This record gives sequence, C-alpha cells and structure tokens, in this order.
Amino acid sequence: MGQGVVLKGQTLRFIADPFSSPADDAIEHHERGAVWVVDGLIKAVGPASAVLAECGTADVIDYGDSLISAGFVDCHAHYPQLGVIASYGTQLLEWLEIYTFPAESAFSDARHARIAADFYLDECLKNGTTSASVYGTVHAVSVDAFFEAASARNMRMAGGKVMMDRNAPAFLRDTAQSSYDDSKALIERWHGNGRNAYAITPRFAPTSTPAQLEAAGALWREYPTALMQTHLSENTDEIEWVRTLYPDAPDYLGVYERYGLTGEGAIFGHAIHLQPRERDALAASGSAIAHCPTSNLFIGSGLFDLADLKIQAGIRVGLASDVAGGTSLSMFKTMLAAYEIAQLSGYSLHPAQAWRLASLNAAETMGMADRIGNLAPGMEADLVVIDLRSTPLIAGRVNRAENLRDLLFAQIVLADERAIEATYISGIRLYQRPAKFDA
Ligand code: GUN
Ligand code: ZN
Repeated sequence: MGQGVVLKGQTLRFIADPFSSPADDAIEHHERGAVWVVDGLIKAVGPASAVLAECGTADVIDYGDSLISAGFVDCHAHYPQLGVIASYGTQLLEWLEIYTFPAESAFSDARHARIAADFYLDECLKNGTTSASVYGTVHAVSVDAFFEAASARNMRMAGGKVMMDRNAPAFLRDTAQSSYDDSKALIERWHGNGRNAYAITPRFAPTSTPAQLEAAGALWREYPTALMQTHLSENTDEIEWVRTLYPDAPDYLGVYERYGLTGEGAIFGHAIHLQPRERDALAASGSAIAHCPTSNLFIGSGLFDLADLKIQAGIRVGLASDVAGGTSLSMFKTMLAAYEIAQLSGYSLHPAQAWRLASLNAAETMGMADRIGNLAPGMEADLVVIDLRSTPLIAGRVNRAENLRDLLFAQIVLADERAIEATYISGIRLYQRPAKFDA
C-alpha cells in the first residue's frame, strides 16, 4: 500500500484515565488536528500541520470542524433482539417469555440470521459503533451468520452461542453436551479468525443446569483467550430465582465462581443489585461489568452504582446498549442514560469519563484495549467522524460551549445517529451519512 490516508478534523485522544486523574486533563484535543492511517493502523495523531508534514503523498480528507474519535465500543448487545426493541409493559422475566424467546426462535434459520446480522452491523456503523460483544441465540447458525457478516465488514467483533438447557421453551433449549460441542466447534471456526473473537455465552444462571455451567467452565479452561459473557443480578425476581435454583451458592456471583466463570475476560451484564461480597469478589477476580443504562431503565431493573463499583471498588466497567432490553444502539443515548443514573446517586459523570466508558473502557472489558478504543499510534483505525452541529439545537449549544467538556457534553445529551458523519473500519470508510441528514 502507498502512504495511506490522512483525515483532518478535531481529534480526541485519551492520554490519562479520567476516573483516577483530573477528568479535564484526560483528553488530548487538537482543534485543527489530523489522523494518519496506513495499512489499517493509526500511524500518527496530532496537529494537522505536524501530521501533514510527515505523511508524504497520503490522500487527505478534510472533515473541517468535525470531531474524529476512536469508534464506539458496545460491550453487551443481543443482535437477534433488534426486532423486539421497544416492547411495551414488562420487566425482565416476563419480557424474556413474551417478547424475546419468540423472537430468538427464528434464528434456527441461517438466512434469517444473516439478514438480521447484516442489519445489526449496518446499524452499528450508522451509530459510530465499530466493535461489540454480542449474544447470538441458542442456535449455532446464528453465530456463524454473525461472524460471516462481521468478517464481510472486517469489524472487530466478539460473539457467542447462547447456552441454555432449562427454563426456556423446548425449541430454544440445548443440552450441556450439545452446548459444549457446538460452542467448541464455533471457537475452532471463528476465534482469532480475522478480527473475530469468541465469547463463551451461558445466558444466565437460571437457564443453565449445573452441568451446563460446568461445561462452560471446562470450555473456558480449554480456550482461556476466549471471552466469557453472561448476565448477573439484573432484577430482584431473577436474583430470588437463582437463590432457589442454586441453594448452596453464597449468592448469585457465587454460582459463576463455583464453575470457574469469573476472572479476566469475563463480562457480566448489569450487576445492579450486588451484595458487598459479590462486589469485592468481582473486583479481586479482574472480571468486568457491562453497564447497560438504557436497558436498566426501560425494563425497570434498577440503578447501577457506577461511582461505587468503578471508582471505589475499582472494577472494570464498560458501557453497553444491551439491545433490545436497551432502547438504542446509539452510544450517545447510552452515555446520557449513564449520566442520568449517576446523577440519581449524586455523582456527575464527566463527559471524558462517559466517552471513555463507551470506547476504551468497553474495549478493556473485551481485552482489546491495546488494539481498539483510542486514537493513538499503533491502534487499529476504527474511527468515527462526528458532526458537532448536526441539528440547529446542538449547533446553538456548541456555539456557546466554552471548553471541550461542554462541547462533548452537548453531544452526549443531544446527539443521535444524525451526528455520525462517517465511520471507518481499519481505515476504510464503511458508512457515509446520507445528505438528507444534513442540518
Ligand atoms: N437475562 C437473561 N437473558 C437476558 C436478555 O436477553 N436480556 C437481558 N437484558 N437480560 C437477560
Ligand atoms: Zn443482555
């Protein structure tokens, strides 16, 4: 390849952790900046004058005043549920019964799954989300379809087959043995194939027998570089149910601990109603939490205590849409819901913190923070270009912003997919905003 491509615009790069050092100093921002991309990797980021002096004959694309950031990362989502987004009137267990399980049953059909996977990934690109950790359904073909669709776009994606051998309709159940065999075959086919990563995916303790969780743990020991994703302490009825199904476990997390399903590379969705022991054990184990704020509000699950879990306990936390319990694929909407939930506990989430939760922190939960989630030399060039004045209302607020904090906060509170001007995967533009969105 030649000299690559230079994108000019405002640039946003994390140079410190806004949760452990002053948040206003965590971002390096160049108003007239540029990113130089060569062979899918970021070669340089900095003031446009310096980058242009360095980049030889690279093509230059000028995005003017727009903001170039690492693409957003969504560390917990269910692609097969997109069709039941906005389903009325239930909380978790009823929501699963009435809406979710019927929708997931259709994914035994490979063609249906591929169409849904293509749609989901194109919606991600429209929203500037370039990586995610994704649940399939119980059907292995749903995961083949997902990784085929991700590979066609060269997106760095994690995903896995849901393991579920009880407390679900017969047409959605596997067995401990078949879930082990199917997951193992999928790992062999997809884990580390291109940019794909496999996530071993027992749905949650209530839909797995002890034998199935045992099988999941055995599989993770065989493939320790795979991720492990599941749900934890989302809803109070769910927690009570786990207590009756696993009466010998000390608590909900204790079920997963018993089968070797905690530790680095484990991503627990929700974790809203933790006991002190679970909180401390999560921190000590190196496990991560996917904070899913729009979902927690929409299905009425509860309020995540970000300040305690992330800052006091030091647990790894990333932000996640949890579509379709969640109400939006937009990480702007997700950041806003996280801000609002934190407000209710008296903590004001700084825009630099929110943005990092939706990019580098989420990448960290997936063990990929050395490759994606930041605009830094050597990182993969998965980028989003954000029009900071995508509607008249946002433009008016941005024009009055006195600093980067307020500029970013205006996007977090007010922006949606109309603000996404372009999305790049490995330095290739895969999404360009249609003209009709121009304000
Ligand atoms: N717990 C078990 N399965 C699910 C799911 O599909 N969505 C959510 N939000 N919680 C779950
Ligand atoms: Zn979920």
